[in-house]
Amino acid sequence: MSKVIVHADKATAAKAVAATIRDLITAKAKAGQAAVLGLATGSTPLPLYAELVRLHREEGLSFRNVVSFNLDEYEGLSGDHPQSYRYFMEQNLFRFIDIRRENTYVPAGISADAARTCADYEAAIRTAGGIDLQVLGIGRTGHIGFNEPPSALDSRTRRVHLDEVTRRDNSVFFGELSLVPQGALTMGVGTIMDCRQVELLAFGTGKAEIIRKTLQTQPSADCPASWLQSHARCTFHLDPEANALL
Ligand code: F6R
Repeated sequence: MSKVIVHADKATAAKAVAATIRDLITAKAKAGQAAVLGLATGSTPLPLYAELVRLHREEGLSFRNVVSFNLDEYEGLSGDHPQSYRYFMEQNLFRFIDIRRENTYVPAGISADAARTCADYEAAIRTAGGIDLQVLGIGRTGHIGFNEPPSALDSRTRRVHLDEVTRRDNSVFFGELSLVPQGALTMGVGTIMDCRQVELLAFGTGKAEIIRKTLQTQPSADCPASWLQSHARCTFHLDPEANALL
């Protein structure tokens, strides 16, 4: 059963999730193990990444024992493209903390063999021991990662076609719709369900309806995020606006 926490605002939510991540990293370091984090991009996790940077700078939180796997990448964009998710992570988190670059994984947007790239990504997650904690946002289509409807519960990392709603929502970052890639590589719903802990963040009135659908309708491929209802350890962190229809 998913748990829902309504925070006073997104800054408070971000601090709560950052504290959970800090505690995980610290506990793993004490046990001599790496913490394996699943990361998301988009506007939602920005306050979380700002708080993680603050914890690093002001409270000495080290990311030397962290391995990270990002959810997704636009097809056709190289890591130095300003709209690529590799670039996003570099600009908003990695360059401000002490994570080892070789421990940061983002699916390659350009590859000769996308199926191979996706299979290798799944293998890298397995080799790392699986993901301890996955950070998620949610799209207005109900996507998590770029698992647009319909996405099956057992879907794995693969190449997907982006929904037009998603392309329009993300066109603000590209300047115009025609520049938004048609496809992406994304972890599957099954890949996300395998993560030992999931922390989903959703803020603002624009997310209220999809949060209602995600938590209050029968889980189905038509709303991929609804599969999270059956995750053993998943928390939805909302602000009052995103919680408005629950
Ligand atoms: C990003 C991702 C997406 C976003 C979602 C919400 O890596 O996988 O699922 O989390 O599109 O985006 P924002 O946060 O911009 O509303």
